Amino acid sequence: MRKRKTSLHGETLLGVVLFSLQATMMRFTRLGQRAIQSTSQRTVATAATQNAQGSNKSLYVLAGLAGAAGVAYMSAPDFSANEGLPPPNYPWAHKNFFTAFDHMAIRRGYTVYREVCSACHSLRHVYWRHLVGVVGTEDEVKEWAAEHTYEDGPNSDGEMFDRPGQLTDRMPMAYPNEEAARAGNNGAVPPELSLMKKARPNGEDYIFALLTGYRDAPHGLNVREGLHYNPYFPGGSLAMAQALFDDMVEYEDGTEASISQMAKDVSTFLCWTAEPEHDTRKRLGWKALLLTGLMIVPTLYWKRFKWAVVHTRQVKFAELPKRFY
Ligand code: HEC
Repeated sequence: MRKRKTSLHGETLLGVVLFSLQATMMRFTRLGQRAIQSTSQRTVATAATQNAQGSNKSLYVLAGLAGAAGVAYMSAPDFSANEGLPPPNYPWAHKNFFTAFDHMAIRRGYTVYREVCSACHSLRHVYWRHLVGVVGTEDEVKEWAAEHTYEDGPNSDGEMFDRPGQLTDRMPMAYPNEEAARAGNNGAVPPELSLMKKARPNGEDYIFALLTGYRDAPHGLNVREGLHYNPYFPGGSLAMAQALFDDMVEYEDGTEASISQMAKDVSTFLCWTAEPEHDTRKRLGWKALLLTGLMIVPTLYWKRFKWAVVHTRQVKFAELPKRFY
């Protein structure tokens, strides 16, 4: 990720340089214009000014072109391996002003997370109670939580004890500590996934593209031992092997568990973990816009009413009596 940032700095720097070049050119043009004007007072005035105006125009065009090139360079996607291939824009159900998350996809996505990703990745910021009413019913979630044991205590004898999970517990960690995570993954730590959607540009597109993007490395590219080629990952190879394979999980609603279906569902689930307030936020936003829109009418009326005193005021000037002079 650090590489991505530095190259962004580079682009910004180039943009600044180009713009300052443009500014300098315009400054010189103006200086030249002034010089020409002062000489033209002494010499044949009209011809010189016309000439100067002509060369000014081409300078302005040049400066404009330099500026446009700077902007184009800054906004052009960078396809170098350091950045990773930019993920395509997928038509997510929730990427729209009026739409909520696809909740069946969230539920299926949880199944994929539980069966596949949870072996390595934790969801540190998600508690079991968050799943109630979104992923499953209260009874279902209680059952899922109770499948895990949590250490609690101390009890009245001062002893720690194990108990089954409850709704108030966090979802379990994949590894007890970072060292264990490194030891199990060739030295790489599988990152915590609950905020991954926000941590990467175009989060859901990126996660989907990453999960479905594994392929053979192109000829001539040496992928280091223990890494796997994936063009969407910055650098081109990462420590996570392909995690999804056809029919890896069994969906209870009978949906076919293809790689792309599972990737789509788990990406939607990770969008929900990162922005659980998404649906409420959109609905509240529309309500607020509607209300403020409606409030404009009484506000305008109130404004006219209050300013009527000022607007209908008449100022009269009268000649002062002679004795004031
Ligand atoms: C066998 C362990 C393992 C499994 C299973 C696994 N991952 Fe990973 N994952 C890793 C490791 C290790 C990394 C760190 C890779 C690196 O930094 O080179 C990683 C990294 C990631 C990243 C971050 C990539 C980035 O830009 O930094 C995402 C997103 C991700 N995994 C999603 C998933 C999802 C979704 C699943 C379930 C479908 C999953 N992973 C299953 C081990 C795993």
